Amino acid sequence: MSANFEVKGSIAVITLNNPPVNGLGYATRLGIFEGLKKALTKRAVKAIVITGAGKAFSGGADIKEFNTPKSAAEPNLHSVIAAIEGADKPVIAAVHSVAMGGGLELALACHYRVASPGAQIALPEVKLGLLPGAGGTQRLPRVVGVETALNMIVSGNPVPSEKLAGTKLFDQMIEGDLMTGAIAFAEKVAAVRPLPLVRDIKIDYPNHEAYFQFARNTVGAMSKNFPAPLKCVDCVAAAASMKFDDGLKVERDNFLALMMTTESRALRHFFFGERAASKIPDVPEDTPKRPIKSAAIIGAGTMGGGIAMNFANAGIPVTVLEMKQEALDKGLATVRKNYENTMKKGKLTQAKFDERLGLIKGTLSYDEIKNADIVIEAVFEEMGVKEKVFSKLDQVMKPGAILASNTSTLDLNKIAAFTKRPQDVIGTHFFSPANVMKLLEIVRGEKTAKDVLATTMALSKKIKKTGVVSGVCDGFIGNRMIEQYSRQAGFLLEEGCLPEQVDKAIEKFGFAMGPFRMGDMAGNDIGWAIRKRRYAERPDMKYSKTADKLCEMGRYGQKTSAGWYDYKPGDRKPYPSQLVNDMIIQHSKDIKVKRRKISDREIVERLVYAMVNEAAYILEEGIAQRASDIDMVYLTGYGFPLHRGGPMLYADTVGLPNVVAAMKKYAKGRHGEFWKPAPLLAKLAKKGKTFN
Ligand SMILES: NC(=O)c1ccc[n+]([C@@H]2O[C@H](COP(=O)([O-])OP(=O)(O)OC[C@H]3O[C@@H](n4cnc5c(N)ncnc54)[C@H](O)[C@@H]3O)[C@@H](O)[C@H]2O)c1
Repeated sequence: MSANFEVKGSIAVITLNNPPVNGLGYATRLGIFEGLKKALTKRAVKAIVITGAGKAFSGGADIKEFNTPKSAAEPNLHSVIAAIEGADKPVIAAVHSVAMGGGLELALACHYRVASPGAQIALPEVKLGLLPGAGGTQRLPRVVGVETALNMIVSGNPVPSEKLAGTKLFDQMIEGDLMTGAIAFAEKVAAVRPLPLVRDIKIDYPNHEAYFQFARNTVGAMSKNFPAPLKCVDCVAAAASMKFDDGLKVERDNFLALMMTTESRALRHFFFGERAASKIPDVPEDTPKRPIKSAAIIGAGTMGGGIAMNFANAGIPVTVLEMKQEALDKGLATVRKNYENTMKKGKLTQAKFDERLGLIKGTLSYDEIKNADIVIEAVFEEMGVKEKVFSKLDQVMKPGAILASNTSTLDLNKIAAFTKRPQDVIGTHFFSPANVMKLLEIVRGEKTAKDVLATTMALSKKIKKTGVVSGVCDGFIGNRMIEQYSRQAGFLLEEGCLPEQVDKAIEKFGFAMGPFRMGDMAGNDIGWAIRKRRYAERPDMKYSKTADKLCEMGRYGQKTSAGWYDYKPGDRKPYPSQLVNDMIIQHSKDIKVKRRKISDREIVERLVYAMVNEAAYILEEGIAQRASDIDMVYLTGYGFPLHRGGPMLYADTVGLPNVVAAMKKYAKGRHGEFWKPAPLLAKLAKKGKTFN
C-alpha cells in the first residue's frame, strides 16, 4: 500500500507515499481507504489528517495507470471520497507543494483543509481534453466562488495557495511546520459537530445566467477545436443552479462523454507520446551522459543564430563561428534583434537580455571553439561544404566532443565518414525559426555512440525541445513525409485546383498553414534546389512542374513579394495572383490534363494519406521507433492540428481500411503508382489493426 498510517496522540495521520507526486494509483487509494477504516475504528483517534510525503500533497491520477483496469479498480477515487465524506470523525487535508486534479478533489471532500503557502493548486484535466471527474467542478465553486473556479477549471492553470487564502478552500494557512500546524488544527476541531461538508455550502450567484452566457461566448471562441472547455462551463453552471447531487451527475455524464472524444484522445496521445519519444529501446535511461557545459555553432545564417539562442536561453555559453566578419556581424545582429523584440513585448527583462547576449560570442577562428563540448554545424546544404567543415572539426575539436550536423536532407553517415570519430557524430535537425519551434529531430547515424545519443536526447530537454529520434534517410521523418504531401499538392494544381483552394481546404482541416502559403513563407527556391537534385538522382519520382515554373518567374515567395500569391510591401497577407493562376491553367493544357472540380474532401484525403503512406514505410524501415514519434514530429514541427493527434492517430481514427479504400480510389486517377499502400499499412488494414 502506498500510504503510511500512524497515530500521534489522538490524531491519526495518513501519508500518501507514491513518488514522485503521490499519484492516486490503486495502491495509494487502497492505503487511504484502509487507513480511514483503521482510524474510524480506533476509539483513541479523534480526528484524521491526510497529507502527502515528499514533494507533493498529490498530483492527481497516477499516469502509470492511465488506460489500465487498475485506474478504475475499487476503491476508486469516488469510493475514497465517499468514505471521507461519510466519516464520523473530522478529516483534515494538510496541503503542500502540489494539489492537482484528483489530489485537489480529494482535499475538497475533506471536512477541513489547511495549507502551506506556495502550494500549486489546480484542476488541469482540461489540458487532456477532459474535466475534473470526481466532484471538482461542483465543490471548487462552492469554496472559491464561481468565477475563480471557472477560470481555474477552464484554463487548467495552477494558482498558488496563498492567493486562495481567505476563501473557504483553506480553513487555515500554516506558515511554519505543516504537520505541527495540521495536528494542532485537528485537535482544535476534533469535537466540533456537525462535520462541515463542501457539498452543503450554498452557492449564492444571482446573476448566473448572464455570466455563464458571457463565459460560453468567450470560452467557445478560444477553444474552437476542443469541446472540453465549454463542457467545463456547463458543469460549473450546474453547480451554480442545481442541487449538489444533480450537479455531480452532470459532471459525470460530461466526463464520460469527453473521454470518448477524438479530441481528448488526441491530447492524451500527445501527452504520452512526448514522454515515449524520449525513450530509446536499446539506450537505457541510465546510460552515462557526456557533460554539456559549452557549445559552438558553425554558420551564423538563418539556422545558426536561432540554434545559438537555444543554448543561451538554457544558460550554456555558445560561440558562433563564421568564415567572414561581415556574415558573423549580420548573424549576431539578427540574434540581438530577436532578443530586443522579445524584450519589447515584455517577455524578457533587461537583466535576462544582457545575460543571454553575454553568453553568445562570435569568432572566425576554430581555435576558439576547440574546447566546446558540442559543436553544431549549420552551413550551406552542400556535401562539399559539409566535408570541409567536418574534416576541420575532426582535426581541432577536443576528444569526446559531440559533432552534430543540422543538415535537413544529406546522408549523415557520409558526413560522419569525413571524420575519424564517426561515433561522436549525430544529426540535430532544428526547425525554423530554431529559437521558437519545439521539434528537434535527433538523427542517429550507423555509428553514433549510445552515450552521444543519450546526451543529445537529454540536451533536447534542457533546451526545451521535443526530441524525436530518426534513422538516416533522405529527409528523415518530417521532410520525407512532407515531400509526398507537396507532390500531391502540385498534382492537385494540375488537375483543377488553384493554390487558394488547396490552402483553404487543409487549413479548414486544422493545419496552421496550407502548402502554398507555407512555400511562400519558407522560400520556394529551397524546394526548387531539392527538386533539381531529385531530377538527377531519382528520375522515376514525378513532380508537377508548376512549382519550377513559378521559380523560373522569379517568384520565390514573401522575400520577393511574389510567390504562389501576390504580396504588398510590408504585408504578409496573401492575395490570389491572376498571373500564377493563368500559368497553372495553361500548364494543365500543355500537359493535356482536363481540369475538373475537386472537392475539399479529396484535397484533404490526398494530402494527408500521402503522408500517412510514406510514414508507414518510415515505420517499417525502422527510421522512426514508433508511430507516436511520427505524430510528435508533425504536432511539434509541422503544424498538424493538435486536436487530430498527428497523421498516424488521425489515420487510426478514420480506420486504416478506410484509408486504404480511399487510396485505391485515387489510384484510378493519374499517378496510380503513387497510391500503392505501403506493406505495413496494407497489413494492418487487413487485420483491422492500428498504427498506435
Ligand atoms: N532554413 C531552414 O529552414 C532550415 C531548417 C532546418 C535545417 N536547415 C539546414 O541548416 C543548414 C543551414 O541552413 P540555413 O538556412 O541557416 O543557411 P544560411 O545560408 O542562412 O546560412 C549558412 C551560413 O553558413 C555560413 N557558412 C558557409 N560555409 C561556412 C564555413 N565553411 N564555415 C563557416 N560558416 C560557413 C554562411 O556564411 C552562412 O551565414 C543547412 O544544412 C540547412 O539544410 C535549414
